[in-house]
Amino acid sequence: MGCLFISTFIILSTLYTIPHISAVGYPINVWPKPTTFHWPRPQAIALSPNFIISAPGHRYLTPAVHRYLRLILTEHHRPLVPPLLNLTSQPLAALTVTISDAAAPLTHGVNESYSLTVPCAGGAAVLKSETPWGAMRGLETFSQLVYSKPSRVACGLYIFDVPLFMHRGIMLDTSRNYYGVGDLMRLIRAISMNKLNVFHWHITDSHSFPLVVPSEPEMAAKGAYGEDMKYTAADVKRVVEYGLEHGVRVVPEIDMPAHTGSWAEAYPEIITCANKFCRYNQPPGTDQEKGGSWCGPFKTWQLIYNYDITYGLTEEESKLVLGGRWHCGLSKLIRLLWIRWIWPRASQWVKRCGREIGGERGKKRFAEATDRLNEWRYRMVTRELVLSLFSHCGVSRIQACVIRSI
Ligand SMILES: *[C@@H]1O[C@H](CO)[C@@H](O)[C@H](O)[C@H]1NC(C)=O
Ligand SMILES: *[C@@H]1O[C@H](CO)[C@@H](O)[C@H](O)[C@H]1NC(C)=O
Repeated sequence: MGCLFISTFIILSTLYTIPHISAVGYPINVWPKPTTFHWPRPQAIALSPNFIISAPGHRYLTPAVHRYLRLILTEHHRPLVPPLLNLTSQPLAALTVTISDAAAPLTHGVNESYSLTVPCAGGAAVLKSETPWGAMRGLETFSQLVYSKPSRVACGLYIFDVPLFMHRGIMLDTSRNYYGVGDLMRLIRAISMNKLNVFHWHITDSHSFPLVVPSEPEMAAKGAYGEDMKYTAADVKRVVEYGLEHGVRVVPEIDMPAHTGSWAEAYPEIITCANKFCRYNQPPGTDQEKGGSWCGPFKTWQLIYNYDITYGLTEEESKLVLGGRWHCGLSKLIRLLWIRWIWPRASQWVKRCGREIGGERGKKRFAEATDRLNEWRYRMVTRELVLSLFSHCGVSRIQACVIRSI
């Protein structure tokens, strides 16, 4: 965990083949772009004020259905460029969700595909998926087809969507800076609406030990930044359950055998180099002091669009790439900047990792997605993802955090 913003690629095996990408330049867009977006004659249909979503009852899907219904009825997103779409006569009264395997658990490799049809006249919109997790991705897509006040829905379209990689995550370090459970839940919401599926929770490190381990209560009592900066077992359970309601698998990590300086507060005898910090070697040609670190967050994000994570691999080798995670170490970022710095970038990462690897290798793809990303950013901002200002890293016992003015 020495660097920030490292994309980790896990090479093991793959289930998904790379599908054909379509859909550019429609009046209403979906982020990230679905693998198939067929909208031959763009039109819109009014959303009935009595609109309902009917779906099979499910412990985690049902809360998602309630959440999306509320969002769909109240969001009233105003597209940056008002779409000139003729309105069909009958309002859309329902979305019907069907699932073939409702019992499928949210494990690595679970099928997240879905198809969505929104007719312009006669009958309900239909969302079909293999699993409840695919249905959640489809609900997100449907919510992005709804706009304006009174609400309208893009209609006469067919979408089929399947992620390119099955492991698509964000890692957050809660040791260098503490984030309350509310912040973690907000992050999970953002992960879900970007159709990522893993929250890698880097709970502990040398800087602090915020996790209350019932059998070893001294670890957090002495290792946390403060009394109110700890995660209890109930907090962890809440985060994991919240993840499931959003189709996000929570992977907690207790870093070891290195990165354990915070353990020494309770048990100094088990740590060899407590309160010492050795700077790792930088690769040649890098300039840490001028913000030029090869892993610095402000240097490299622009390259994400053009970065092909399977570049240089043979076709056989490419099939072994499972996906990746966006690492948010955040020792350099105070929380106010989270939305400004991370989410536009993380959304680009979604594009690279989640859906949009199509196109010719080596070609710049940034321009093509800029408008859609702008639109998406506005939606994300209105969904209240703004966080408050706070940073603990600078006061941690390991003085290795550089907070730059940016
Ligand atoms: C809307 O309908 C009018 C009248 O039928 C037609 O002339 C126009 O091309 C339509 N606009 C779109 C964007 O389909
Ligand atoms: C997921 O299900 C869809 C629809 O049945 C199918 O086309 C696709 O191949 C499946 N993908 C995986 C990875 O199982």
